[in-house]
Amino acid sequence: MVVVTIDNIHAAVVDNITIIQACKYLGIKIPRFCYHEILPVAGNCRMCLIEFEHDEDKIHVACATLVVDKVKIFTNSFLIQKVRENILELLLINHPLDCPICDQGGECDLQDQAKKYGTANGRLFQNKRFVSDKYFNVLIKTIMNRCIHCTRCVRFVASVSKDNQLGTINRGNHTEISTYFDKKIYSEVLGNVIDLCPVGALTSKFYAFKARPWELQTSENIDLTDGLGVKINVHFKERVIYRILPKLSYESNLQIISDKTRFSFDATKENRIVNLSNNVDTLFTKNWSNFLKYLNDLLKYTSKEKFLFIIGENTSLETMRVIKNLERFFDYSIVKTATPAVSNSNYVYNIPVSFNVLKSKSIHNCFLLSTNIRCENALINFRLKTKYFSNNLFIFSFGAKCNSDFNINFININPNNTLQFFEGKNKNVNLLKSLLFGHKSMFLVGENFKQRYVNNIEVFYNFLRKLNPSVEIFPIFKNINIEGLNNNNIKFISKKNIIDNKYIFTTYLDDTIFLRKLFNKNKMSDKVLFWFNTHYSQLAQRFNFIVPIQTHFEETGGYLTLEKKYINSVASIKSFGDSKSLYLIFSYIFTKKSIFYLTLNDLLDLQKPFEHFNEMVKNIHLYYLLNIKFLKHFTKTLLVSNYSYVMNYPFKVITQDFYLTNLYTKNSYNMVKASKEFRSNYSMFENK
Ligand code: SF4
Ligand code: FES
Repeated sequence: MVVVTIDNIHAAVVDNITIIQACKYLGIKIPRFCYHEILPVAGNCRMCLIEFEHDEDKIHVACATLVVDKVKIFTNSFLIQKVRENILELLLINHPLDCPICDQGGECDLQDQAKKYGTANGRLFQNKRFVSDKYFNVLIKTIMNRCIHCTRCVRFVASVSKDNQLGTINRGNHTEISTYFDKKIYSEVLGNVIDLCPVGALTSKFYAFKARPWELQTSENIDLTDGLGVKINVHFKERVIYRILPKLSYESNLQIISDKTRFSFDATKENRIVNLSNNVDTLFTKNWSNFLKYLNDLLKYTSKEKFLFIIGENTSLETMRVIKNLERFFDYSIVKTATPAVSNSNYVYNIPVSFNVLKSKSIHNCFLLSTNIRCENALINFRLKTKYFSNNLFIFSFGAKCNSDFNINFININPNNTLQFFEGKNKNVNLLKSLLFGHKSMFLVGENFKQRYVNNIEVFYNFLRKLNPSVEIFPIFKNINIEGLNNNNIKFISKKNIIDNKYIFTTYLDDTIFLRKLFNKNKMSDKVLFWFNTHYSQLAQRFNFIVPIQTHFEETGGYLTLEKKYINSVASIKSFGDSKSLYLIFSYIFTKKSIFYLTLNDLLDLQKPFEHFNEMVKNIHLYYLLNIKFLKHFTKTLLVSNYSYVMNYPFKVITQDFYLTNLYTKNSYNMVKASKEFRSNYSMFENK
C-alpha cells in the first residue's frame, strides 16, 4: 500500500495502480479520451494530465503513471485547467462543428469537455482538414473527419483479431485511422467500437438520424440471442426499440456485447405476426375470446385425442411450468421439445456447477468438444481469445474443424476415439496426463458432442471430474433456456409423438430442416397444428392456427443460462400488434379463468419456485474429491455403458452462421444483411 494525497484527500491505495484508477476509487473524475478500463493504456490524448507538487516535471499523464508513496497530486489546479484548454483547442482545430447532425450529440466526450474547457471562438482561420470515410462493415458507420486519433478502436480491434485489421496511417496532420487496403473488418464483437469511440466517428448505421439520446427511454433487460443471457440496456421510444447497449456488469461481460445482441433488435417489429389467424374457420380470426374458449373446451372435453406440446428454447420457465402442469393434470397431453441439445437423463440438482465461464482466470488448458465456439457464443470466444493473446492458454479442439480467429490445436478424431483419449486408452496418454494434471483445465462441451453421446452426458462429466477435480465444465448452448428445458425434464421429440397426437401446440419454434421434415406437409392433413410464435416463417404456413405472442422485450419471464443462472426479462415495450403473453394464454387454460382475471398473486405463485434457484445452485456441494494416484486407475471406468452409448458418426458443425441462430435473429434485417456480407467476403468453414 502507498499513501497518496489527491486534491487534499489523504488515502492509502494499493501500489500497482495508475493515478487515474486511484482517482476513480476516491470519486475524482479525470477527463480522458484515449484511456478505457478494458483496453491497454496508450497515453496519447494528454487530456488526463495532472500536477505533482514538488516535482521538476510537474505535469504527468494520470492514465500511464503509477501511484508513488507520499505523492501530492492536484487534478484541477489552475495550471491543469490551462493545459486542458490547450489540449482541447488542439483537438478542435480539425474537428468539424457538426454536433447538431451528429448521432453522438448529447453523449459525446469531446462535447462534454468542450463545454467545460472550450472557448466560444476559435483562433485559427485555416480550412479544416478532410479525411475520407472508411468502410468497416454493414453495421458500422464511419465519419472520419470527427476522429481525434485516440486509438481506442485500433486497440480494441487488435485485441479481438489476430491480424491487426485496423491501424493508423501517415503522420502528423495527415494521420488517419484506416483499414489499410480498403478491407472490410470482421469480428463478432466489432460493434463495441461504437461505444468505445469517444466522439461520433464510429456510430451505428441503424441508429443514424433516428433519435436523440434525451428522447429515448431506457430499460434494463437481458439478451436472449445466445446461451449467456447478458444484461443490456434497451433504448426505446413509444413502442419502437432504437438501440441496444451493454449494461456494465463486472461479474460477467464487462461492457462487451456481441453484434447479434446489439443489432438484432429490429426483429421486434419486422415480419411479426400481427393478428390471430386460422386457415379453416374465420370465426377465430382476430377474435381472442372465441379462440380462448375453443382452446379451453378442447382441453376440457376432448379426451379421446392426445395433445402434444412442443416447447422451443425461448419459452420462459414460468410458461414451461404451466404447460408441464397441463401434462400433470390432463394425462392425455405430453410435453416435448425439438431442441436436440436437451439432456435425456433426469435433471440433477447436485451436480457441480462453476459460476461464470467468462471469469475463469486460472485456466491453462481449454478443451473444445465439438463446438464452433466462434459462432455459438461470441462472448466466450472473445474471452478465450483475449486470454490466449495475453498469456499461456492451450486450446485443443475435438470435432469438425471450424474457422477460428486464433490458434487452436485441432485434433481430428471421431467421438469414440475422443472418449478413448480421455480414458487414457490412446497412445497420447502422456499428453493427457500433462494436460489434466499439470494445470487447471476447462471443457466447453458443444451441442453436437451431446448429440453423439446418447443418454447420460453426466457420466462423462463425472468421469472428467474424477480425473481432475479442479476441471471446469460448461455446456455451450447457442440459445438460452436449454437448462430450463432440462430443469422441467422436457425430453427430445420423436416422429412417433407426431404420429400419435392429433392436436399439436408449438411455442417459439425455430424453422429448421429437422422440423420441416417432422411436420411433413403430406402427412399433416388429419392434424390440428398451432403456431404460437412471434414471427412468421415458411414452416408456419403448414399450421392451422397462427397465434401472435410477445417477445421477451414485451413480456416478463425467467430463463436459465448455460451457467444455470436464473435471469429475468422485463416488459420494456408494449406488445406488437395483437400479440399476447404466452404465459397468460396457458395460465388461462390451466386456471379456467378469463385471461383478464388472472391476479398478480397467481402470477407470483407460479414464479416462486424459481426465485431461490440461484441461491440453491450456489450452495450445492461442489466437486467430490477422490484420491487420484494414476490415470490408468480410471481406465476401468466405463464411459460407455448400458445406459449411455456413443454414436460413431463423425462430429459435425451445428451452427454455421453466427448471425442467424434462431427465428428471432433470422427475422432481423440487420442480421440478414450482416450475414450476407460476411458470407460473400469470408470463408466461414474450413472443413477439410
Ligand atoms: S475512430 Fe473514434 S475510437 Fe477510433 S481513433 Fe478515432 S476517435 Fe478514437
Ligand atoms: S487519457 Fe491519459 S493520455 Fe489519454
